[in-house]
Amino acid sequence: MAASSSFIFISLLIFSSLLYVSEADDYSAPIVKGLSWDYHHKTCHKLEKIVRKHLKKVFKDDIGQAAGLLRLHFHDCFVQGCDGSVLLEGSHGGPSEQTAPPNQSLRKQAFVIIEDLRNLVHRECGRVVSCADIVALAARDAVHLSGGPDYDVPLGRKDGLSFATQNATLANLPPPSSNASTILSSLATKNLTPTDVVALSGGHTIGISHCSSFASRLYPTQDPTMDKTFAQGLKEVCPTNTTDATTVMDIYSPIKFDNKYYVDLMNREGLFTSDQDLYTYKVTKPIVESFAHDEKLFFEEFVKAMIKMGQLQVLTGEKGEIRAHCSIRNPDNKNYFSYLVEEEDQSDLETRAELR
Ligand code: HEM
Repeated sequence: MAASSSFIFISLLIFSSLLYVSEADDYSAPIVKGLSWDYHHKTCHKLEKIVRKHLKKVFKDDIGQAAGLLRLHFHDCFVQGCDGSVLLEGSHGGPSEQTAPPNQSLRKQAFVIIEDLRNLVHRECGRVVSCADIVALAARDAVHLSGGPDYDVPLGRKDGLSFATQNATLANLPPPSSNASTILSSLATKNLTPTDVVALSGGHTIGISHCSSFASRLYPTQDPTMDKTFAQGLKEVCPTNTTDATTVMDIYSPIKFDNKYYVDLMNREGLFTSDQDLYTYKVTKPIVESFAHDEKLFFEEFVKAMIKMGQLQVLTGEKGEIRAHCSIRNPDNKNYFSYLVEEEDQSDLETRAELR
């Protein structure tokens, strides 16, 4: 009897450890003070389920939105840290980050999806989860639901009370015309290594780009590093250097999160100079090759780099706030005070129910 129960116990242990590994890739590097893996477990244990369930529905209708959400997290984190500042609309503080050129091509729908998620989460749990955390979770689910790796996201970010200037936004988001060495030094200021840079650039395995982002590689003269047939196809989509059209960024599997982006680069079919030059530059070329040959390695390095990116200059603890609406700071939110009264009423009801 004792032998059979210890057999069951050991089997259960093995089974549950297998379950844990398959649930999300484990990553045990230290995380910044104030964030934790289980930050919302007590206050909003359904958080991740709510986000994933809603995004599954959204992506079923339009998988393109996944790319928009992944890019939104990148643009949030690189400018002033992952503080949801990219979500803020301009006010008396001047034009917001959203109006800076690199952010003008962020998908409008990505902002709507984040606000819908916030609404769902706050309705279930109250105002306990920041917009910045929701953006980080949405980016993770965008990757996973497009076929990429699943991973745990450290949580506990607060939303910022200010947004960056246009100049600061431009200075922190390198243009697609940059070469690899410029990208490396720009990202090194954020403690990102060449491996991180190559892995994060793999985000371009999904999504689309406007002609204006790569037309300078076609006109007036064609970039000699570009495959000729590939260039011809791009010229058909963008017949002049002012055409307003879009094309996919990974021609082999544009809606699947996989390692084909690196195969594109090896075939000289990278869309931007900042992509293609990763395969020309001697420091990054072997990393591109290793990811093109080994998707598992790419996924591992991508997860590490995303977790690193997701913790850039985060606000935690007493710093920042939890916005009641992702595009408005609480002090500017006319409905915020009525919202607070509602929250108080709700907690009164809960306290009364507990006392009964
Ligand atoms: C390393 C420097 C980077 C540069 C220069 C860059 C540049 C760009 C540009 C110019 C576009 C197309 C914009 C347009 O014309 O519509 C784009 C799209 C995109 N980028 Fe990046 N990017 C970089 C890094 C990243 C990173 C780190 C990620 C995420 C991990 C990312 C994810 C995306 C995605 C998913 C799209 C497609 C968006 C959509 O379909 O709406 N990018 N990027």
